[in-house]
Amino acid sequence: MLVTNKELMDAAKAGGYAVGAFNINNMEFVQAITDAAEELNSPVILAVSQGAIKYAGFSNIVSLVRTASEDKKVKLSLHLDHGKDMQIIEQCINDGFTSVMIDGSDLPFDENIAITRKVVEMARPKGVSVEGELGRLAGVEDHVSVSKENATYTDPDEAAEFVEKTGVDSLAVAIGTSHGAYKFKGDAKLAMDRLTEIIGKVDVPLVLHGASGVNQEHVKMGNEFGAKLMNARGVPDEAITEAVKRGICKVNIDTDMRIAFTVFIRKTMYEKPELFDPRKYLGAGRDAIVDVVKYKINLFGSEGKAF
Ligand code: G3H
Ligand code: 13P
Ligand code: ZN
Repeated sequence: MLVTNKELMDAAKAGGYAVGAFNINNMEFVQAITDAAEELNSPVILAVSQGAIKYAGFSNIVSLVRTASEDKKVKLSLHLDHGKDMQIIEQCINDGFTSVMIDGSDLPFDENIAITRKVVEMARPKGVSVEGELGRLAGVEDHVSVSKENATYTDPDEAAEFVEKTGVDSLAVAIGTSHGAYKFKGDAKLAMDRLTEIIGKVDVPLVLHGASGVNQEHVKMGNEFGAKLMNARGVPDEAITEAVKRGICKVNIDTDMRIAFTVFIRKTMYEKPELFDPRKYLGAGRDAIVDVVKYKINLFGSEGKAF
C-alpha cells in the first residue's frame, strides 16, 4: 500500500522508532528494499533523487514502485529526495509521489522559508506530505574548526520558526552527518545535544540524512576485488541508535546499498570471469541490498511496524 511519509513518520514518532528511507535507481533496488521490508513486516520509504528520475525516467520509477506496492502488504511511501527543481517537484506532487522533500538548505533562511512554504501550498491539497531541510550537511573537508562545524548545524530557534512559518510535515536537520562514503576524518562525532535541543522546540518528526554506516567488511571486500575505497568511513550504529532514541523518525540510507551492490557484483565477476549473464551478477548485488536493508530495519526498530 502506498501511503505518505507523514503517516509513517507520525507512527514512528509515537512508537519511538525510525522508518528507513532507502534510495532507488532501478528495478533491483526496488525489489530488494521491498522484499526486505515484507520479510520483516516493516514500513519503508522509497526515496528518489532528481538524479534517479533522470537516470531511470519518471514513469519507470513510478511504475516500479506502484507494482511493488500492489504486490506487497507492507506500507510503502514514494518520496522525492532533495527536490530542488520546482518543475520536478510539481510533477511528483501531481503524478504519483506520496511525499516530496524541498531542499532549500543552501538558500538564505528567508528564501528557504518562502520556497518551502510554496511547496507545502502545492502539496497539501493533493494529500502529499512535505519534508524541509535546515542546516548544512557539510562534507568532510569542511570540518576544519569547531566554530565552522557549529555554523553548519541546525539552529534550534530557527528550526522552530521554520516549521511554524512553512507548515512542513517533517524537518531534516544537520548535526554532523554528510552524504557519501567519506564522512569523518578523525572520530565520528554527531551533535547529539543539539539534536535534543531541536527536538525540544520542534513538534514535527525529524529526519537524519547522510546516515550510512559504511560497513568496513564491505569496504575491505571491495578493495580486495579491485575497488578503491580508501579511508571510507560512516556513522557508527551506536550513533544511529542514540539519534533514534532521542527522536529521529526517518533515517536516509543510500551509500551503504551502493557499496554492497557494487562489492557483490565485483566479487561475482571476479570469481566467475566466464559469466556474462547480467541476471547472475545483478542478482548477487540485489541479494546484498536485501541484507543491508534488513540490517537497517533492525537498527531503526521498525520491524513489525508495517500496519
Ligand atoms: O542524498 C543523495 C542521495 O544519496 C542520492 O544521490 O543525487 O546521486 O542520486 P544522487
Ligand atoms: P548516505 O550517503 O549516508 O547514504 O545518505 C543518503 C541520504 O541522505 C539520501 O538523502
Ligand atoms: Zn540526503
